[in-house]
Amino acid sequence: MILLTSFLVLTVQQVVNGEISKHCYTYPKVIAEDLVRTINESPEPTWKASTYGFKELDLNLLASTKLGVEMDDLQTFSATEIEKLKKEAQKPHYVEDDLPENFSWAKTNRTTCPINTIRDQSNCGSCWAVATASVFSDRYCIKTEGNFTTPFSHQHLLGCTHRSCNCNGGYMMTVFNKLLTDGTVTGGEYESDQGCQQYSIRPCGPFIHNMPCERRTARTPLCKQKRCNNDWYEHKEEPKTYKISSHTWTSAYYNDYEVRKQIYNHGPVVAIFWVYADFMLYKSGIYERRAGYRPLGGHAVKIVGWGVENYKKYWHVANSWGKYWGENGYFRIRRGTNECAIERNIGFMTPQIDKSS
Ligand SMILES: *[C@@H]1O[C@H](CO)[C@@H](O)[C@H](O)[C@H]1NC(C)=O
Ligand SMILES: *[C@@H]1O[C@H](CO)[C@@H](O)[C@H](O)[C@H]1NC(C)=O
Ligand SMILES: *[C@@H]1O[C@H](CO)[C@@H](O)[C@H](O)[C@H]1NC(C)=O
Repeated sequence: MILLTSFLVLTVQQVVNGEISKHCYTYPKVIAEDLVRTINESPEPTWKASTYGFKELDLNLLASTKLGVEMDDLQTFSATEIEKLKKEAQKPHYVEDDLPENFSWAKTNRTTCPINTIRDQSNCGSCWAVATASVFSDRYCIKTEGNFTTPFSHQHLLGCTHRSCNCNGGYMMTVFNKLLTDGTVTGGEYESDQGCQQYSIRPCGPFIHNMPCERRTARTPLCKQKRCNNDWYEHKEEPKTYKISSHTWTSAYYNDYEVRKQIYNHGPVVAIFWVYADFMLYKSGIYERRAGYRPLGGHAVKIVGWGVENYKKYWHVANSWGKYWGENGYFRIRRGTNECAIERNIGFMTPQIDKSS
């Protein structure tokens, strides 16, 4: 209980790297072992935590480098819209539910698309760019029936979307609209030699075997509109851009069938949710919030599937903290209860397939 009260918040303005932080409060240090014990010894354990080698959790640093989505620009649903969603959910074909009880793109062999790649935002609040590029890549590949497997560039989106979107965080609507109007180029992980613009921030930090980072927080890469940073990229003269023809934001809270059908038929979707301190130490199982009163911030991730285990429904989700965190880079979170608001805003896009590619 002493642990929980230590999450109470001080309202002082915090200076980070010479800039006034957007968040007007600072988190006290937390002893990792105490938090792990609180989680693992909770009366109804549905998930397990690990210290990941931390002694103390620097929540201020984790909040500014591991998350990065502004939660308040997305829609809240009106009472009428909620009624409509609820009514839809009562229709017989939803109630019957013709979708599998367990399904995940990370585990299926329905496609040869490399959906199982776990990306790593490193020490930059770029989850908004990573989740968007990742979902766009998967959907493009699925739509071409596995013919186009090169990933799209989170590096390009991070640098080029808008000056309000950077390593300090970004807006989902802005980056989705960027794909609609300008599109993006290809590019994979750090030193992956995939595509035109690969990620330039080296994986580091607590979830990568405590590899030291060059700086406390990474600098946002500069926008390179037409230049590739991968020496092996074969079309260096003029990188192609890839766009979407539409995007949709919906909610899974009142009707998760529609979202599951969307995932099943067209590929993964983006979700955003509030991250609390305990989530940082998630190791395995079905996550439900156990500790922490004040969220550290909003986080964008990629939902790849769903399932039921021991009568508990869950979403299967790819995180962007490398493959050593969680269940090989993935986590499962309780489904049907809007856990940490993860079901409130679900986004996906329709790729515009270029016939000549
Ligand atoms: C993979 O494909 C084979 C043959 O199409 C099928 O029998 C098998 O059940 C599939 N496995 C999974 C995990 O979907
Ligand atoms: C994928 O490639 C095959 C072989 O080139 C082609 O027949 C098929 O039409 C392509 N599918 C799509 C969706 O472009
Ligand atoms: C779904 O997965 C759970 C365990 O993860 C298993 O018990 C259950 O039988 C599965 N359902 C189906 C229809 O295979």
